[in-house]
Parts: sequence; C-alpha cells; structure tokens
Amino acid sequence: MKVSNKASMIVDKDFTVGKVDKRLYGSFIEHLGRAVYGGIYEPGHEQADEQGFRTDVLELVKGIDVPIVRYPGGNFVSGYNWEDGVGPAEERPARLELAWRTTEPNLFGTNEFMDWCRKAGTEPMMAVNLGTRGPDEARELIEYTNHASGSYYSDLRIKHGYREPHRIKTWCLGNEMDGPWQIGAKTAHEYGRVAAETAKVMRWVDPSIELVACGSSSLNMATFPEWESTVLDLTYNHVDFISLHQYYGNRDNDSANFLAQSVGMDKFIHTVISTADYVQAKKRGKKKINLSFDEWNVWYHSNDQDRKLDPWTVAPPQLEDIYNHEDALLVGCMLISMLKRADRVKMACMAQLVNVIAPIMTANGGPAWKQTIYYPYMHASRFGRGTVLVPLVKSPKYDAKDYTDVPYLESVAVHNEEAGEVTIFAVNRHLSEPLPFEIDLRSFGGFRLVEHIVLEHEDLKAANTIDAPDRVKPHGGGSAAVADDGRIEAQLGKASWNVIRLKLA
Ligand code: AHR
Repeated sequence: MKVSNKASMIVDKDFTVGKVDKRLYGSFIEHLGRAVYGGIYEPGHEQADEQGFRTDVLELVKGIDVPIVRYPGGNFVSGYNWEDGVGPAEERPARLELAWRTTEPNLFGTNEFMDWCRKAGTEPMMAVNLGTRGPDEARELIEYTNHASGSYYSDLRIKHGYREPHRIKTWCLGNEMDGPWQIGAKTAHEYGRVAAETAKVMRWVDPSIELVACGSSSLNMATFPEWESTVLDLTYNHVDFISLHQYYGNRDNDSANFLAQSVGMDKFIHTVISTADYVQAKKRGKKKINLSFDEWNVWYHSNDQDRKLDPWTVAPPQLEDIYNHEDALLVGCMLISMLKRADRVKMACMAQLVNVIAPIMTANGGPAWKQTIYYPYMHASRFGRGTVLVPLVKSPKYDAKDYTDVPYLESVAVHNEEAGEVTIFAVNRHLSEPLPFEIDLRSFGGFRLVEHIVLEHEDLKAANTIDAPDRVKPHGGGSAAVADDGRIEAQLGKASWNVIRLKLA
C-alpha cells in the first residue's frame, strides 16, 4: 500500500499529559528458567563478582538505567516460601517449583536480590505469596525486610548479616490471582478480601509502603474488567495501584496485524483507568488508583520449545524468546502507549530482564548480549524522562485483521525540563514505505537537533544471536532536520523505530 499523506504531530509545552514516573521503565526478575541462575547470578563465571553476580549483565542492565525490578515472581511467587531463600546458603532447601515444574535450589533469595539491586542501581518491587500463603507470611516478610531491629524477624535479618533494613517501598499483593494456572487462584471476591487484609497488616508494620493489587492477567480474561471493579471495591482504601499484564505475539506471521496490537493496549489502559475511576466515584473517594503495568512484552517464540523441556531440572532454558526486528517495533509502540497515559501508568515492568523473555541474553559460561528489544527500551528509559506532551497526531491509516484505522505513525514527545531537552519517539508501522513526518513544536522557541537515532532492518525477522550480536542495532543517521520555519521534518524509514532528540535554546 502506498502512503499518500505525510504524518504530523503538534506538541505545545503548556499542554501536558503528566510527569513520567521513572518507574515506568521497570523490569522483572522471576525465579524462572535462567533469569536468576545463569542470568544475573552465575558463580564461577569469569565475569562474576565475589557474590556470583555477573558483572557483564550488570553493565547491560545499567545501560538501560532500570529504575525498579519486580521480584521474585510471577507465577513462582504463589508457591514460594521466602524463608527458604535466606540464611546460610548451605542450609537452604531445594524445592519442587510447581509453577514452572523445575527444582528451585534457593541459592539466591531476598538478601542476594537486594545486594544485586544496589549494584545495578535499581529499586526492588517485591511480591508476596497470596497463593499458598497470606497475611501472616506477608507481615513476617516485611518485618524481616523493613523493620529496624528488636523483633524476631528483624533480628533474624541482622543475624543473616544485614544490619540495616532493606526499606522496600513497593509491594505487589500476589500475582495473577485470576488465572486458573496460578497456585491458589481465587475469585475476585476471595482475592479482594485477602488482599485488603494483607495490605492492612503490611501497612501496620510499615506505613510508608506502596501497594499494588492484582488486576487481570490479560485483557482477554473472561472476568476482565469485572475483576478490577470487584477487587478495587474491596481494596480501594488499602492500595495505591492496580496491575495490568499483557503479552503479544505474531503467531500467524501477519506483521501488519502484529504491529497494530498496541492499539489494543491503548484500549486496555483506558478501560482499567475508567474502571478505577468508577470505583473511586462509587466510594466518593479522593484517591486516584494508578496503574502498574508490571508485565508487558512480546512472548510467543519459545512456546513450542518450552513444551519439550524435561520437568524438575534446575534453571532450564525456559521462555527464551529470540527477538527480531519487528518485535522491537512493537515494544517501541507499547512504550509509546504507556507514555501517552503517563498521567496514570506510573509503574511498568518489561517482563523480563535477562534470558526469560528478555532484552538481555547470556550463554552459561559465555558472553551476554543485547536482543533487538533492548534498544527501544533503553532509548525510552534514557531519554523519556520528564513531562509527556499531549500528542496531536495526524497519520494515514490502515486496516489489519483485528484492528481498523491503525495509524502508520505512533509517536509521543517528552520534555525533560531539567536537561533542557525534548525527545520524540516515533514508529513507522508501514512495512514497505517510508513515512514523511513533520513535527510542530514552535511553542518551545529555539532548539537544535542533537541526533536522530534509527532502528531499522531490511529483514523484519532479523535477530541478534551469540554469533551475530550486532545484526540489529541502532544508528544515528536519521534524516530529521529543522526547517526554516522551525518545524522538524523527517523521513521515517519503513518499519522503523526513531528517537529524535532536541536541545532547547
Ligand atoms: O513473565 C512470565 C509469566 O507470565 C509470569 O510468571 C506470570 O505472571 C505471567 O503469566
């Protein structure tokens, strides 16, 4: 299809969506596959430090500037006994892990994770087990992590070598409790009640924490959005966030339809905001419940391979999606979707961080490298801090199998007041044509172009591998230029991710 029209965007510094909470660029480490063992932690690896943390992986994580990492799951947390993962490593039990049918050696636990977070320059987002356990375990865990001293669990932490409390601020009340695959799955009513009671006791231990209630496991769940309505009705006074999870895939090899899926994500976000606001109205409440999109990504490449794995092994190669160029484009679109609602999506976690549906891959005993999706995630995290500007976008559109009126252009601009910069993120969804793009931001007065970074590739299926780790990588040769009248003009290459950075005068 020929693109006859150009696309355009107008932004004005006084018309803003909201401030970006840096936690929008969070990620996730679950005890699953090789995320922990062989991912962030591999004692004996030539790049491992004295604690067994892979320093090559730490460098790649720091390259993204990840502000928060969710832990320890995921489905894993619903059968996890946190006590198994603290204290002398040689005394910790190996357990059957029912969520992913593996053996969990418990050599890495809460304290190791906190040490790793410090080294990675990130904050923890800790989940409690509301599958096999409940309020009692949650209050003990937070006493262990956050209480200074003078009680059984805080003194146990000190005995384990951690005099200072970890002061974990952000907590998830369970994981995907609506899913039949979840250990201890619940109805919305059952979950809402236990989440409220758990929240109460956790806050009694530490009133400074922030709490996330489980929303639906995906927008396709039959109980969505009734689940959100019931859960928030029962937890409104106790929680700050409701979670969203969503994964996409290109199972039919229909790339135009695949790239349109973030339009569904826009609608998902909109529905959850509306449901949260409905509950607020019902309660005559002052508090807005914000959104924690704490699992999002592309996930489908590894599904067949995972079905063939033997059960009960330690750290098998599960969920090892090898991402290609088109996956990076959808990831870019998903980041733009969340930025467009940065007024309410205050936290988000790309699921996950290393090896398991992840931007960073490692070989056991070998190197670490960047998957294609590393790049849009890194660009958004590094350059997408500040205030999101209302994007008035005009774009030619197309119809795909499941979506109509899909704009070829997906774009948003972020104003970083402190750095005196504006960054425009843009995806051209067109698979065979460049898209002329004009941006009007004259309310900013003078500015100069710093760079126009582009991620593009002739082959939508091109991926980075251990043997060709740089097959897909960005270049700084984009065409953006400032015209005489102050507009920015660019040709967005077919199927490309673009970052246009401006320095304000
Ligand atoms: O991220 C992988 C899994 O996806 C998580 O464990 C679970 O919460 C979701 O279903």
